[in-house]
Amino acid sequence: FENGLGRTPQMGWNSWNHFGCRINEDLIKQTEFRVMAEHKYEQCASAVPTSTTDALVNTGLAKLGYGYVNIDDCWAESDRDYQGNFVANRQTFPSGIKALADYVHAKGLKLGIYSDAGTRTCSQKMPGSLDHEEQDVKTFSSWGIDYLKYDNCNDAGRSVMERYTKMSNAMKTYGKSIFFSLCEWGRENPATWAGSMGNSWRTTDDIADNWGSMTSRADQNDRWASYAGPGGWNDPDMLEVGNGGMSEAEYRSHFSIWALAKAPLLIGCDVRSMSQQTKDILSNWEVIAVNQGKTSLAFLPTPTIVWAGPLSNNRKAVVLWNRQGYQATITAQWSSIGLASSTAVTARDLWAHSSFSAQGQLSASVAPHDCKMYVLTPK
Ligand code: GLA
Ligand code: GLA
Repeated sequence: FENGLGRTPQMGWNSWNHFGCRINEDLIKQTEFRVMAEHKYEQCASAVPTSTTDALVNTGLAKLGYGYVNIDDCWAESDRDYQGNFVANRQTFPSGIKALADYVHAKGLKLGIYSDAGTRTCSQKMPGSLDHEEQDVKTFSSWGIDYLKYDNCNDAGRSVMERYTKMSNAMKTYGKSIFFSLCEWGRENPATWAGSMGNSWRTTDDIADNWGSMTSRADQNDRWASYAGPGGWNDPDMLEVGNGGMSEAEYRSHFSIWALAKAPLLIGCDVRSMSQQTKDILSNWEVIAVNQGKTSLAFLPTPTIVWAGPLSNNRKAVVLWNRQGYQATITAQWSSIGLASSTAVTARDLWAHSSFSAQGQLSASVAPHDCKMYVLTPK
């Protein structure tokens, strides 16, 4: 998709996994907020999207690349105005979306929004963009929106191709600088066609904050590895790291595999109150570098235990993932990860931040549901 965006997988934050429809729950809670409704967002420092923006900057996550602040479903009033325009929910976005975009931009970040290729969005709480594609993209552009997540509920019986082509064309004309994320994964196998329509596409149903959901999305996503590359990425859904339903080891595995698979790294927890453990996982710059490295694709079809993929300069990224409930020794043979067995490498352990030499194979004892992640550089 040639809008020049998504040269590497998108990074940022999205409201859905943690807040669901309560995108701005702080504001909803604050009664004094109504008094402030006329004022700028700066004065409502606890509003979720603005204080999340601040938190991304203050924690250093923004500097590591987490640049998009994406609001998900439920941001609009139930009905359009008399001219057919979207209206931001008056309670949750009293100053409107443009003011929020101005705030986010002033902090050096980008703002994302959500709509749906149907009559209503998935929550049913707001209209979708079906047959309003150009009008809505113009609206988003006028607000300064940088990213659109476009879902696939309530399709009025019309084909995926028709509906997504319409929006993609509207984006090509009126939304040239907007990252286009297709939230469509169904039987239509979007990896095989969405590369000409947008910058990423879902490969799985919605993730939930548990081990079974996360592992199955990793496996399902892997089938489409060869379709991903600069400009268009597979999306096994957003990160659950920090939401509380998995152990630290499981979140480390979740993050490592998403990074290796060149998946979007969209944080889904409340970054304003995350634990040090959560922050440490999300800010591992060596793991992020694997995700954001300039090379594209094609992970070896080996999983579920040894995951590997190519990096620039003949390097390999390798994850040894212990999916058993007990400590286990896992070995990656060079032959199974695309290296000649005679190749000597420097192995960098991306979680221990230490290096050692290896040849022919790499073995490690891995805690239950945890992983080890390495970059192998031939000597
Ligand atoms: C779908 C998407 C989710 C989220 C919800 C919002 O389920 O896959 O990521 O956007 O809709 O209703
Ligand atoms: C439907 C669509 C999927 C996905 C989900 C979101 O099932 O077919 O592509 O968008 O809705 O809930």
